[in-house]
Amino acid sequence: MTAASTGEVSLDTSDDRRLANDRDTSGASVMSSASATSMRTQLCGEVGIGDVGAKVSLCGWVSRRREHGEHLAFIDLRDHSGIVQCVVSGSLDVRSEFVVRVEGTVRERPVGTVNENLSTGMVEIGDCVVEVLARSQVPPFVLDGRVEVDEPLRMRYRYLDLRTDRMQRNLRMRAKANAQIRQTMASLGFCEVETPLLWAPTPEGAREFVVPSRLSPQSFYALPQSPQLAKQMLMVGGIDRYYQIARCMRDEDLRSDRQFEFTQLDMEASFVGQEDVIGFVSEVINDATEALTGVTPDGFERITWAESIDRFGTDKPDLRFAMELVDLTGAFASTNVKAFSGETVKALCVEGGGQFSRSRLDSLVERAKALGAAGLAWFKVNPGEGGELELESPLARHLDSGEITAVFKETRCQAGDLILVVSGEYQRSCLVLGQIRIEIADTKVGDGRYRYVWVVDFPMFDGVDASGCPIPAHHPFTMANPADLELLKTEPRRVRSQAYDLVLNGWELGSGSVRIHRRDVQNTIFEILGITKEDAESRFGFLLDAFDYGAPPHAGFAFGIDRLVSIFAGEESIRDVVAFPKTQSGSDPMTGAPKAIGDAAMKELGLAARSVK
Ligand code: AMO
Repeated sequence: MTAASTGEVSLDTSDDRRLANDRDTSGASVMSSASATSMRTQLCGEVGIGDVGAKVSLCGWVSRRREHGEHLAFIDLRDHSGIVQCVVSGSLDVRSEFVVRVEGTVRERPVGTVNENLSTGMVEIGDCVVEVLARSQVPPFVLDGRVEVDEPLRMRYRYLDLRTDRMQRNLRMRAKANAQIRQTMASLGFCEVETPLLWAPTPEGAREFVVPSRLSPQSFYALPQSPQLAKQMLMVGGIDRYYQIARCMRDEDLRSDRQFEFTQLDMEASFVGQEDVIGFVSEVINDATEALTGVTPDGFERITWAESIDRFGTDKPDLRFAMELVDLTGAFASTNVKAFSGETVKALCVEGGGQFSRSRLDSLVERAKALGAAGLAWFKVNPGEGGELELESPLARHLDSGEITAVFKETRCQAGDLILVVSGEYQRSCLVLGQIRIEIADTKVGDGRYRYVWVVDFPMFDGVDASGCPIPAHHPFTMANPADLELLKTEPRRVRSQAYDLVLNGWELGSGSVRIHRRDVQNTIFEILGITKEDAESRFGFLLDAFDYGAPPHAGFAFGIDRLVSIFAGEESIRDVVAFPKTQSGSDPMTGAPKAIGDAAMKELGLAARSVK
């Protein structure tokens, strides 16, 4: 492209020619860096005080253009590394988001014009020649990150949104996480293996995305919810230690921590048990945390599932704050207060919660009911006369003095606190208060603190389905705790599994388990789950067959990379660490997916569209 055709503007044409010549011949005065290409000498953010006097060539987007009089303009030139100020004279036809190449000389900024907020703020590029490489329409939103932009608009123009510092930082952080994970996994002797995306339908708790087969009309592949069975096959295949940065697809309702497509660090190892896997994963996560945040985690705590429910009302405890649940069942063992006569009485003492307004208390009561509690009682703790504490609540006058004393003792409350009480079925009461605890604490996902906790001894089953069959708490391939095997047929609800979760700041980061590796045990589990022999054979015959050919004991784990990076990046939604995420309704406003594929393509796949009510 010639200067004339690209709207080149020059402060000093003779100098520019010299630069071009220098680059073409000796290259002596031209900077070079790892980012240098045939079009640029370095990145915008790399220019510094040490480069003063050097001739540079930079490429990027016009972030901002400011006029100083008729014949002088400043361009803030931006690439992913940062922004540098370029001083241009003459009339200039460039606007925001034009792609340009600027050639000029690095010079110190005049006294009083240094910009402390820019890494390149000590310098500017003078004697600039600007070559327009691509023009841009006026972008539909400002890209400087100072204005909050509606998410649908960001998604519609994701390629513009990706240019923002925020998205550049998040995606690069993600790349760094992947690189670090690969490094640690390799150092632990894990072998990276890619497993198929076109797989057979396999249940893991979510609905599957299916792909019609052209060559076998009316037959479908399923996109993997995770490489669960593939990695178990790899263990039978002698891979010994497998890992993969695996794309997984699940057709489930989308939330801030859930996408249809997401990425796991998926791993499996042979001749190992739970402690080995916990050791491997802790090492990977520790390394990733250090590499990405510079913080060494305070270690990985350990809690059983039962204790976690009892103390925090959740299997995803956020250990950054205390506010533990308190058991008041004993305190109200012989109460006359009907509201406290349930199987359990659980309480939460909210420090300083005595300040809550009546309407806030009313909404907490409504929230508890919506979460499944019969109600929620509240007591404000007030200073009484003579230093005694008093309870203020519509229910307070119904409590006898022994109950009031027990409440003070068990909750260890102080004047100004608020006590919230739920009574009813044990687990429900814990879960309701656990959720309210999280909502009151209202901590941010990423606040620079990283509290990891392993939750172990999960129950094998979690409730029952519509036909009364137990639902696996993890997945059907999880091994029961050997101590509870006897209970499998008699009291499945009491069986503990060898499943474990890793939780970070209240988010479930990952799950894993020791697997079943014997046909008879796997069949027993299928039977308990209500999967008939024929069904098991047709869906999992390959797994059962593999178990007949020497399957090693094995165990594994998978954690969500999207979730990990979100927390490191301080993002509340994983959508902000995914290049092209789906919206809450599962669509992609940029491409318009999902879309009809047209009659010809449908015919080729042997499909006919029909609405089913
Ligand atoms: P699980 O289903 O618990 O286990 O998934 C492991 C981790 O994957 C992440 N994750 C998701 N992230 C974003 N969007 C989603 N829709 C989504 N679903 C799951 C979470 C979760 O903790 N095969 C087993 C693992 C094993 O047993 O080895 C599995 O996939 O961070």
